[in-house]
Amino acid sequence: MKKISVVGFGKIGQAIVANMLQNGIHVVAVDINPELKQVFDSGAYSSSEPGLAAALNQYYKDGALTITHDFAAVNDSAAVIVAIPLLVDKQKRIMDEPFLDCFKQLAPHFHDNVLIVIETSIPVGYGRNTVVPAIESQGKQHGKDFLLVHSPERIKSGTMLDQLLRTPKVIGGVSTEATAKALEIYTWFFDEKLIHLVDSIEAAEMVKLAGMAYRDVNIALSNQLAAFAQKIDVDFANLIPLINTDGEAFLLQPGIGVGGHCTPVYPYFLINNFKEAGLDFDLASRSRVINDGMAEHAVSLANPHVHEKNALILGLSFRPNIKEDTFSTSYLLNEALQSHGFRVQLHDTEFSAEELVRKGFTACADVYASGAEVLFLVTMHKEYASLDFKRLAASGVKVIIDGRNQLNSNTIEDAGMRYIGIGR
Ligand SMILES: NC(=O)c1ccc[n+]([C@@H]2O[C@H](COP(=O)([O-])OP(=O)(O)OC[C@H]3O[C@@H](n4cnc5c(N)ncnc54)[C@H](O)[C@@H]3O)[C@@H](O)[C@H]2O)c1
Repeated sequence: MKKISVVGFGKIGQAIVANMLQNGIHVVAVDINPELKQVFDSGAYSSSEPGLAAALNQYYKDGALTITHDFAAVNDSAAVIVAIPLLVDKQKRIMDEPFLDCFKQLAPHFHDNVLIVIETSIPVGYGRNTVVPAIESQGKQHGKDFLLVHSPERIKSGTMLDQLLRTPKVIGGVSTEATAKALEIYTWFFDEKLIHLVDSIEAAEMVKLAGMAYRDVNIALSNQLAAFAQKIDVDFANLIPLINTDGEAFLLQPGIGVGGHCTPVYPYFLINNFKEAGLDFDLASRSRVINDGMAEHAVSLANPHVHEKNALILGLSFRPNIKEDTFSTSYLLNEALQSHGFRVQLHDTEFSAEELVRKGFTACADVYASGAEVLFLVTMHKEYASLDFKRLAASGVKVIIDGRNQLNSNTIEDAGMRYIGIGR
């Protein structure tokens, strides 16, 4: 039986495991979190990803999926796919140790050129110059005991199983032998037409990071154009679909900021790569400053219209109706508002009040009883589309800053409040 180990059974790990199981592979999921196995054993596992819980629960029951925290369990797998995060600190500096420790713990079980795949996004050169030496420091040798490739995971929460069926799978190895082995194994669970081999591991590393830098720069451009448009009273957000009809422009929407563990983080990997190469990726650096500065910009939009400095933020998640808050814009907005003397509450449909308090916010349980004078929409959770604006106005809200340009300005103004979008 074909057997593959996946190390890191989180959001990405669970999706790629389900895809393998659906292709008849026996999967060993290794995760340091011992609760994962208990959750599956008790039948309590659930997921907001369509189809994921049903698939994983069934394969686990059938015995095709093994869940363990024992690294030795990877021993007889054809490949070990690693999907644990490469953590960064608040300043977005890489914290090497937890990531490399994982490879050091796995290394004793590498033999006979087992395929090792990093699916986690990593800086260019990190696989060859940092991960290979970490494994070799444990007495193992590339080309004899293991073969390393990088295959950046480019799917996003929300419809992961579906995206796995159509997102091109990029693979680049430390050696041609590594890449060839990866091609053979990945065709077990990917349509060969989806697999794109690139010349080196560095090329594969660059694919994901370049895509992320593109997205961040694109949003920064929109944010700057939005600020100008607002000054000359042009509704820029509504113009974007029209701008994009020229067949060459692909402008993204401006917004109150860019959250998540990808877009606001990975440009820094490339910025550092440029530095190491004696270059300055000033375009990406400036874009980071512009996008992180949108929180402050949003406060400046509200400031002329408020008197009581009492604000309510709607949304912590960085993606609608997905419970993920890594580097959410709401953290920056909360800080910016407080530095301007605002009292700030936060409401989110995905997080409980206790969770919000643990994350450092003052939680708001009822948006109609916050007493806030200004409301900032950060996340377009579907529930916020049906807010009762008349009730909000009656509760004292005077201004709504629509950080996603998705609320109905007419309804808000008809209810007697001021509507301000980003670039509208
Ligand atoms: N979540 C996304 O939308 C997304 C999208 C594309 C790519 N990625 C990439 O996938 C990586 C993982 O993301 P995720 O969302 O699955 O993270 P996650 O936090 O949901 O899951 C990570 C899992 O790894 C486990 N883990 C951590 N350290 C470990 C170790 N040393 N050994 C074994 N298990 C360990 C954790 O317990 C957790 O279950 C990201 O860093 C990113 O590079 C994520």
